[in-house]
Amino acid sequence: MTAEPKSSFGFRDVEATEKVALVRGVFESVADSYDLMNDLMSAGVHRIWKDMAIARLNPQPGETVIDCAGGTGDMARRMVKRVRSIQKRRGGPDLRVNLVDYNGEMIRAGVAKSASLPVGPEPEIRWTVGDAMALPFRDGHADAYVISFGIRNVANVQRALDEARRVLKPGGRFFCLEFSRPVSAALRTTYDAYSFKVIPAIGEIVAKDRDSYQYLVESIRRFPDQKTLQGMLDQAGFARTGYTNYSGGVVALHHGWAI
Ligand SMILES: C[S@@+](CC[C@H](N)C(=O)[O-])C[C@H]1O[C@@H](n2cnc3c(N)ncnc32)[C@H](O)[C@@H]1O
Repeated sequence: MTAEPKSSFGFRDVEATEKVALVRGVFESVADSYDLMNDLMSAGVHRIWKDMAIARLNPQPGETVIDCAGGTGDMARRMVKRVRSIQKRRGGPDLRVNLVDYNGEMIRAGVAKSASLPVGPEPEIRWTVGDAMALPFRDGHADAYVISFGIRNVANVQRALDEARRVLKPGGRFFCLEFSRPVSAALRTTYDAYSFKVIPAIGEIVAKDRDSYQYLVESIRRFPDQKTLQGMLDQAGFARTGYTNYSGGVVALHHGWAI
């Protein structure tokens, strides 16, 4: 039997099983302040990155989309909003978003948020507790798959990509929005200073949890750069893979097709 490779938890190397428990602890701790923290840390720019990703994903009425590591539903809600506006113009069946997250606390916070929205609950979203590395769907289940700021937290990234490939129909679209490597050295220096000094401090004040946000910035540094992640998409069997840098590579949107 081959041993499971080690996985990174921030700057530490841990057993893959230990990473699962540690990351679960991080998101249990930050679930209630997660949406506010995203706005504070990125000065609201995460909303623009997510909108750009959803525009590329281009969900359509009647499609099934998996929002993997979907957390509190920020991406799922954007998809629903976009498809409802298409339906107003030209009709068509509802979108189905299968949101999967392995953390029940993030899902609980997301369901509570949905229930309190002025637009009312979104029956298009089905919330499921599940693991990106063993998705609870049959082969060829979905038209599109998105994972937004989630893959960095998964213990075995290649396994999650293989699963994404498995659950997509032939012709299905894959998108991964994730922090990446700024392309210029000057931006890297400024961004490093900001993330290591400011983000854990905001986490301490707002979420009362410095360590979880220290993990966040360390995990970004340890995550594969744009080209390496693209190679992993190729290895999973996706076709015509590529990526688009946002904000000078602070974030990248990787994409590919299931064939
Ligand atoms: C930074 S949040 C992103 C949430 C959401 N996608 C967004 O963009 O706002 C990362 C999420 O990944 C989830 N996660 C981490 N590892 C996972 C895994 N193996 N399977 C499913 N979800 C996972 C966490 O529970 C957390 O909700």
